[in-house]
Amino acid sequence: MEYRNNDPGAVQYGNFINYYKFNNAGQRVKLLPPDVWLTSEDIESKETYLALDVGCNAGNLTQLLYTFLNKCLGVPRNRETKILGIDIDADLVKRAEVGNEYPQNVSYSNLDIMDSEGFEHVKKYLRQNNRKTFDAVCCFSVTMWIHLNHGDEGLQQFLQKLSDISELLVVEPQPWKCYQTAVRRMKRAGDEFPLFADLQWRTNVENTIQDFLENNLGRKKIFECLPTRWQRRICFYR
Ligand SMILES: C[S@@+](CC[C@H](N)C(=O)[O-])C[C@H]1O[C@@H](n2cnc3c(N)ncnc32)[C@H](O)[C@@H]1O
Repeated sequence: MEYRNNDPGAVQYGNFINYYKFNNAGQRVKLLPPDVWLTSEDIESKETYLALDVGCNAGNLTQLLYTFLNKCLGVPRNRETKILGIDIDADLVKRAEVGNEYPQNVSYSNLDIMDSEGFEHVKKYLRQNNRKTFDAVCCFSVTMWIHLNHGDEGLQQFLQKLSDISELLVVEPQPWKCYQTAVRRMKRAGDEFPLFADLQWRTNVENTIQDFLENNLGRKKIFECLPTRWQRRICFYR
């Protein structure tokens, strides 16, 4: 992998090679609530619980999410969990595959969720599992990278697309100060995010995402975790 200006922090997609050395996955999973994953209607269902982890990086959080969901839904609800982790960075996906302790239930694919072929691959996974939607779609610390690379409209499309294929949508958006850091690092490495200056969704981006999900996509926030160590809010929308 090549880095801009030899700086592994100056990345375009948030594809940090050592992400989990800095943002501990276990601490975030500890914040997750055990009882929001099912509605009262599907509590009796025995169907496989299907989840999508968007921007899975090297898979550390995906693996812990799997064990967490399995603990919540396995023995107590007699439900198997399956997760598809996807990431735009092929090297990270390779690492995720090497570290996969649950290959029967967790799989990884290298794809760009914004690309129609990439999205088609995700829909194919649903079809292979005889499903039209995932029980849960998780977007941990990925909205900013979509936003910086695809602008306001791209982020809106991203949220719409994922909303269309999810029962529960879990979003951990980056706050505005993270954008400033990403832009600064990129600039220091002699590059830029060309769409950044034109973003209309700025400053209070977490609330803007929430308003869009609630007012434009008809979702309702059902839970918000305590802030993460990086002061990010993990929000759950039905
Ligand atoms: C900051 S990391 C977050 C990793 C993980 N979700 C977590 O919170 O621990 C963001 C990840 O999103 C991936 N990513 C960014 N844009 C993407 C896209 N368009 N499609 C798929 N993955 C993407 C990056 O490669 C990176 O691994």
